[in-house]
Amino acid sequence: MGNVGAKETPILLTPDGRRIDGRLKNELRPVRIQAGALRHADGSAFVEWGHNKVMAAVYGPREVHPRHLQQNHKAVIQCRYNMAAFSVDERKRPGLDRRSQEISKVIAEAFDSVVFAEEFPRTSIDVYIEVLQANAGTRCAGLVAASVALADAGIPMVDLLPAVAVGKVGGEIVLDLKKEEDNFGEADLPMALVPQSGRLVLLQMEGHMTEEELGRALDLGVQGCRDIYEKMKAALRERYTLTPIAEAAR
Ligand code: CDP
Repeated sequence: MGNVGAKETPILLTPDGRRIDGRLKNELRPVRIQAGALRHADGSAFVEWGHNKVMAAVYGPREVHPRHLQQNHKAVIQCRYNMAAFSVDERKRPGLDRRSQEISKVIAEAFDSVVFAEEFPRTSIDVYIEVLQANAGTRCAGLVAASVALADAGIPMVDLLPAVAVGKVGGEIVLDLKKEEDNFGEADLPMALVPQSGRLVLLQMEGHMTEEELGRALDLGVQGCRDIYEKMKAALRERYTLTPIAEAAR
C-alpha cells in the first residue's frame, strides 16, 4: 500500500497490542486544532495531527471563477488540496497531480452534503488545504481543518465534519494510521461523518479486509470521528470565547 520506501516491513504490532508508536489499537495520535489561524482568509484553521501539519483557508461566498462553474440555484464548493514540496521525505513534485485532484474532489463532495449551498446561489465557496508536513491521514486532517475553517468563515452547515482513517495493520483493525502503518499495513479506510445524523459523506478504501472486519472498522472510525468532533468544537469555542481585548490583540 501507499509508497513504500524501506525494504523490510517493520514490526507494526507487538504481542501486547502496542503499535509502532506505542499507541493502542483504538487510540488517536495527538490532535491540536487552532481555529482562525490566518488573518486574511474569511475563515481558517491549523491542524497538527501526529506528524501532520495542515492549514486550511476558506473564502466566500464570493464571485465564481471560472465563471462557467456558476450555478443558478446554489453556491459551488471548490476545494484545492495541495501537498507542499517539502511536506514528505522525498521532495514531492509541486503542483496538482492526480492524487491531489482526487482528494480535492472527494473533500468538495463531502462538504457539498453539509453546507447550505442553496442560501448562496451564483457564488463560490473556496476551500484551500495546504499540507505542510505529511504523515498519513492528510485528507482527513485536511477535511477537519477545512471544516473548522468553514465554521470560522460563518458558512451555514448542517454540522461540522470530523474525519479519520481506520485500517488493518498486523491483522488487526486499528484507528488513525501513521505513515509506516499506511505503507506496510493491509488496508486504509478514510471516512468523514456527519455526527448528528450518523451519515458517512466520505468513505474510501485501499487494501483488503473481510466484511466482518469492515463492520468493526466502521464502528471504530465512527467513534474516532466523534472524538475528533469534540476537539473541533473545543477549538471553535476557544476562538470565540476570547475577551474583546484579547481579540483586538490577535
Ligand atoms: O495522506 P492520506 O493518507 O490521506 O493519503 P495517501 O495517498 O494514503 O498517502 C499516505 C501518505 O503517503 C501521505 O500522508 C504522505 O505521508 C505519503 N505520501 C508521500 O510521501 N508522497 C506522496 N506523493 C504522496 C503521499
